[in-house]
Amino acid sequence: MATKLRPLVDSAWTTVARQRRPQRIPQPQFHPPQCRRFETKVSVPQHPSFAFAFDIDGVLVRSANPLPGAHEALKYLQDQRIPFILLTNGGGRSETERVADLSEKLDIKLDVGMFVQSHTPFADMHDYKDKTVLIMGGDYDKCARVAREDYGFGTVVTPADIVCAYPDIWPFSANFMDYYKSFARPLPKPVNPASLSESLKIDAIFIYNDPRDWGLDSTVILDLLLSKQGYLGTLSSKNGDASLPNHGYQQDGQPHLYYSNPDLWWASSYHLPRLGQGGFREAFAGLWRAVTNDAELQKTIIGKPYQPTYEFAERRLRAHRKKLFGHVGLNEPLKRVYMVGDNPESDVRGANNYHSPHGSQWRSILVKTGVYQDGSEPSCKPTMILDGVQEAVRWAVEDANKA
Ligand code: G3P
Ligand code: MG
Repeated sequence: MATKLRPLVDSAWTTVARQRRPQRIPQPQFHPPQCRRFETKVSVPQHPSFAFAFDIDGVLVRSANPLPGAHEALKYLQDQRIPFILLTNGGGRSETERVADLSEKLDIKLDVGMFVQSHTPFADMHDYKDKTVLIMGGDYDKCARVAREDYGFGTVVTPADIVCAYPDIWPFSANFMDYYKSFARPLPKPVNPASLSESLKIDAIFIYNDPRDWGLDSTVILDLLLSKQGYLGTLSSKNGDASLPNHGYQQDGQPHLYYSNPDLWWASSYHLPRLGQGGFREAFAGLWRAVTNDAELQKTIIGKPYQPTYEFAERRLRAHRKKLFGHVGLNEPLKRVYMVGDNPESDVRGANNYHSPHGSQWRSILVKTGVYQDGSEPSCKPTMILDGVQEAVRWAVEDANKA
């Protein structure tokens, strides 16, 4: 079923909880949990009424390396026919590519339908499929290809396309032009403020993955949010008009701005947490405040911990369960989902706050193999804190058995 991601402006899920730098900085040396042969004390019914959602980075893999017990835990679930999905705030390449890569790393057969990246819900934004969308972030034109080839957006433009056609739009990208030229495509229309019907108009801005060139990307977003109706190279006469709502900013048919991943921090292979897409979001928010003298920035953010992403994930999980069980097993409703994650702000907060439209109850399990540092107080309290994914699955299966 098609989902409309409402361009809400000021609701709870567009207001990002501040993610402070963890007081204890994650250290490069972490102690992976011991990997033991997987066994539980319980027997699992033929059609279990529980299921799992797994975060990826910091739970199943860390950078390119699988975490101990990840293969064993997922293999056990598959053998027992316990449904699960993978729910990540990562992205930047096609779901098919990422699933193939993960299947190989974990030596587990995974289906693309079991997989939700930060930008996957954008695939259902049918209102924009015949419009012109600006796709930002990630390496080369990988995100633009996802939008075009996998999600079916008809007219996709990238900042690289724009700067190659008009290098003066951001002269400080001059040193990166060889890179941009290696994948840029011609613009569907020129920038022609003198004749708007023949000029490039952007209908929505989607940030699929972490921007690489913050200067160029910020400039292009800013130009569009200050434009008349999304025509690049124009300026709205409403900007700064105190008689209008929001002092006239974003009141003139400008494209809506969508972020796919709220994470301020994420755990890479570096020993200190690195800024994620949320870092760019905060930097742009500061720029917007300075330029507009503190006008509100109207935007939509999806990804964990927000309700729409969890709803999307639950639909995927239910579809996967149906495929696994067939109609007979579906007489048994899905009652409980265990979200296993390493980030209190996205995985735990999301599962704790999620209200399932299908009445399932979500429980959060925080593991110690990623962002969360053992011994610190998590900013959002999980149902359980356990060493790693294997311990999480074992605990959850036994917990479900008590229900
Ligand atoms: O940018 C952060 C993202 O990579 C985190 O991924 O799998 O931990 O949600 P994940
Ligand atoms: Mg994670």
